Amino acid sequence: MSPAKATILVTGGAGYIGSHASLALQRAGYEVVVLDNLVYGHRDFVETVLQTELIVGDLEDRALLDRLFTNHKIDAVMHFAAYAYVGESIAYPAKYYRNNVVGTLTLLEAMMAASVKKIVFSSTCATYGVAESVPISEDHSQNPINPYGASKLMVERILSDFDAAYGVKSVRFRYFNAAGADPDGLLGEDHTPEPHLIPLVLLTALGKRESISILGTDYPTPDGTCIRDFIHVTDLATAHVLGLEYLLQGGESDVFNLGNSNGFSIKQVIETVRAVTGREIKVVESDRRPGDPPVLVGGSDKARKVLGWVPQYSNLSDILSHAWQWHQKRHGE
Ligand SMILES: NC(=O)c1ccc[n+]([C@@H]2O[C@H](COP(=O)([O-])OP(=O)(O)OC[C@H]3O[C@@H](n4cnc5c(N)ncnc54)[C@H](O)[C@@H]3O)[C@@H](O)[C@H]2O)c1
Repeated sequence: MSPAKATILVTGGAGYIGSHASLALQRAGYEVVVLDNLVYGHRDFVETVLQTELIVGDLEDRALLDRLFTNHKIDAVMHFAAYAYVGESIAYPAKYYRNNVVGTLTLLEAMMAASVKKIVFSSTCATYGVAESVPISEDHSQNPINPYGASKLMVERILSDFDAAYGVKSVRFRYFNAAGADPDGLLGEDHTPEPHLIPLVLLTALGKRESISILGTDYPTPDGTCIRDFIHVTDLATAHVLGLEYLLQGGESDVFNLGNSNGFSIKQVIETVRAVTGREIKVVESDRRPGDPPVLVGGSDKARKVLGWVPQYSNLSDILSHAWQWHQKRHGE
């Protein structure tokens, strides 16, 4: 199907990754309709930047979904809408299973009723749990250690079952740490509360936070701090367009890691933020947090081989420069 004719429903399109993917879809010639309840999303991302239709509503509102699929000829769905705070999921598991699992099931049932059978789904490296080997490949065992990861693994299973029973084709992307911002400065990360390292360091550089905490400096890594895989959000967005096109061309359901294939330590991130921003950043070193594995780095060769994905911004300085540009614009001085 030619992009000009395809309309994609993007759930969670007012959020961080969903908005960047929507922009990439538009740039590739697709029509985008966004569904977001705006619990964490931003109206201005959709109405001002994407300038496309925003349906403010919840995944669990089946009547609204049925109207949406009746009123729009949707060719495929990109499903980003979910809750994604690991700590909160441990304290409030019901909230996570309801939104992430029941919400997705409601969406899938509405898709089935409308004969929409292609979906790109945001899964996560949190489905792997503690890594037994790195880089983590797609066939690594999946033993999530928190309800957030478990909720995403359940959806992966539901998608497999929906393919076997009903022929729903899915691309399941397991992302590592999304980071950075649109290189043109149109979109970026703006979470409240903000759980992610890079925006927290940048907010510290902007003087919006007193200091940044390093949780553990005695890990078995070269500088003693944890190593993580930061993947540029624009590279994630590009992968989503490729995953969608794979499905539109008749591809079978499949799963792909999306990571940088390079790990960066927490100290490296802070040092690079100092270099990129020219600001001093106060660091407080504290004890390890339970459940943080020393190294989490994903192998993404499969997405490169099967989808032809070529990430453009693997360099940590590029990721941080784009994020810094966005943070200065969004959060001001
Ligand atoms: N940010 C990361 O590093 C990362 C890593 C792995 C996986 N993911 C997954 O990627 C997806 C997007 O993450 P993000 O960082 O952009 O999060 P985000 O919070 O910025 O975006 C999610 C969007 O979904 C919306 N939403 C949530 N529940 C909804 C519901 N029931 N109905 C309608 N809208 C709803 C929110 O308002 C928000 O705009 C999530 O599924 C997340 O689990 C993110």
